[in-house]
Amino acid sequence: MTVALYAGTFDPITYGHIDIAIRAAKLFDNVIVGIYDSTANKKILFSTEERIKLAKTAFKEMPNIEVRPFTGLVVDFAKDVGADTLVRGLRSTADFEYEFEMELMNKNLRPELELVYLMASLQFQFLSSSRLKEVAALGGNIENMVPKHVWKALKTRLAERKQAEE
Ligand code: COA
Repeated sequence: MTVALYAGTFDPITYGHIDIAIRAAKLFDNVIVGIYDSTANKKILFSTEERIKLAKTAFKEMPNIEVRPFTGLVVDFAKDVGADTLVRGLRSTADFEYEFEMELMNKNLRPELELVYLMASLQFQFLSSSRLKEVAALGGNIENMVPKHVWKALKTRLAERKQAEE
């Protein structure tokens, strides 16, 4: 059985991530969407539990996609879940530099792990979770970038944040 790990922060999950995971689910028997349970390097809007819930809802119709949190090294989590492959999305040449560096490090840590890159679909090339949150906070329309339940959660969280600031 082929198992692939698609890891990320997913704060929150977008159509760009969903596109990559669903395409990966056609290539592998099982895809684990690994939600990185760390807030050390990023400004996180949703807790790990919330990010898991949003991702689980997004993949509820996909029986071979499983959502799980992880801490520590991605290569160790891949081993724990029996994944021989890491799936990554590539959006631009800027992603390539960053991915290349990450690949070298991950390969160094676990040489037997394979990395598979899927080009982001054209309509999601511009998308990132940070940009999405910025646009949503400024009242921009993000309906075509996230599923309805994510949009709803974002609106609620941003309103809570605004209220707390006032
Ligand atoms: N569609 C839409 N957005 C995408 C995308 C796609 N196809 N691919 C990437 N993105 C976005 C992400 O949402 C993220 O946006 P943000 O920075 O605004 O939050 C950004 O592009 C970068 O994506 P990614 O590189 O996947 O970063 P991440 O923070 O989501 O995930 C981990 C990074 C968790 C995979 C990485 O930090 C990791 O492996 N950590 C574990 C610790 C470890 O092993 N470290 C050593 C790694 S060498």
